[in-house]
Amino acid sequence: MPAPQQHRLIFRHIDEPGYSNDLACYVRNGGYEVLRKAVQRKPEELIDEVKKSGLRGRGGAGFPCGVKWTLVDRKSGKPIYLVVNADESEPGTFKDRYIIHQDPHQLIEGIMITCFANKVERAFIYIRGEFPEGARILEKAIAEARAANLVGPGILGTAYGCEIFVHRGAGAYICGEETGLIESLEGKRPYPRIKPPYFPAVLGLYQCPTIVNNVETLCHVKHIADMGGEAYSKIGTPNNTGTRILCVSGHVQRPGFYEFEVGKVTMGQLLNEVCGGPLPGRTFKAVIPGGSSAKVLKFGERYKGKRKVGADMVDYDWGVDDIPMDFDSLAMIGSMGGSGGVIVMDDSVSMVEALGNINAFYSHESCGQCTPCREGSLWMKKITSRMVHGDARPEDGALLKSVADQIAGRTICAFGEACAWPTQSFIAKFGDEFKAYPEAKKQPKPDGVPELV
Ligand SMILES: Cc1cc2nc3c(=O)[nH]c(=O)nc-3n(C[C@H](O)[C@H](O)[C@H](O)COP(=O)(O)O)c2cc1C
Ligand code: SF4
Repeated sequence: MPAPQQHRLIFRHIDEPGYSNDLACYVRNGGYEVLRKAVQRKPEELIDEVKKSGLRGRGGAGFPCGVKWTLVDRKSGKPIYLVVNADESEPGTFKDRYIIHQDPHQLIEGIMITCFANKVERAFIYIRGEFPEGARILEKAIAEARAANLVGPGILGTAYGCEIFVHRGAGAYICGEETGLIESLEGKRPYPRIKPPYFPAVLGLYQCPTIVNNVETLCHVKHIADMGGEAYSKIGTPNNTGTRILCVSGHVQRPGFYEFEVGKVTMGQLLNEVCGGPLPGRTFKAVIPGGSSAKVLKFGERYKGKRKVGADMVDYDWGVDDIPMDFDSLAMIGSMGGSGGVIVMDDSVSMVEALGNINAFYSHESCGQCTPCREGSLWMKKITSRMVHGDARPEDGALLKSVADQIAGRTICAFGEACAWPTQSFIAKFGDEFKAYPEAKKQPKPDGVPELV
């Protein structure tokens, strides 16, 4: 069967020859026409369209966007803010940066429609510090839009006005977590807040109701307002609607971004047909499907259970190749679609070294507020690091697992899970490699693969 074709909604114009990120170019392609029509409608109708569309957040958790908007406290009398999460901190994810670089006006149009629908008059784009070029592009695009009466007071001849501000973070993974981000935006250390009571929809930025959405999610809003929620919900698969951008990195012939209808491409089609398969002479060993915090999948392993198809429950028995790339299927087999970052590892990879790398990252990025996360992430790093350097102790495999098991579920924010899941899943699936380390010391690498220093 031929590989499914990409369905480009967000990336529709992204690779057009001569396409640039200026307003004139965007307007030539019909840009801001959807906003022009949207501001003539009732805001509640637009919220209904997003609810009908079934759009799920593309930032990580896959929470339904329309539901999030209806949870906003509209009775407090306080202003409602929109915070655009452009932190893109999850390793393996690189789509938001590309949208911002290539098509910033698509994002600004999505932001303005979202703000109009939710009666928001101030939106903040929180962009990570390592994206200085992205911040510059956004500032320029907002200035162009303001000059064209698309952002600012009384847009498009209406009484409605909204300002967009760009805020640069200093570069920390935890600033991607929505409440840590809000603290940082307020000028403080990005310590995530405890929920309850600090659900952003009620007590967010400056203790006001706040909507936090990812860059890609907000771009989808523009297309939903354009085609209608019903039509959008027919793209993709039930409960996994629309398209999503998959960022493929690692050991494939053609890494990159690919936009597919959600659930209409399997992992095997994506890696073998779309990305050209493994590198010459290699075979696939493992894949992390949704950014480095998602649980790893092992090629050769089977994933079995029952799933809902229409009104029926049917058996599934999948190898990694058979897994549809959607939120529910990946959750069913114990991992997640997360941020859409697909990290591929072939048979040249030592899973102990790969985990050592991941653990070093999470230990560096823990904000330090909760003891299990602060100490646990450091211990996981220390143990994997001594394994990699040939100093493992016989008990280290079990110790590593025990540390990870004591983090997840015991912390203020979901970073606890994000740092524990890689260790738990690597040990569960590649336990033999971890057991072999104490005796084998440092494993000799296959030909041509550099040693980790
Ligand atoms: C540790 C951690 C890091 C996160 N990093 C990001 C990020 O870089 N970008 C992002 O959009 N969401 C990130 N999220 C998810 C956000 O907290 C939030 O759910 C998301 O921005 C909501 O947008 P969405 O509903 O449009 O997906 C992170 C979550 C956690 C727990
Ligand atoms: S889980 Fe980790 S990152 Fe989150 S608040 Fe606690 S210490 Fe900070």
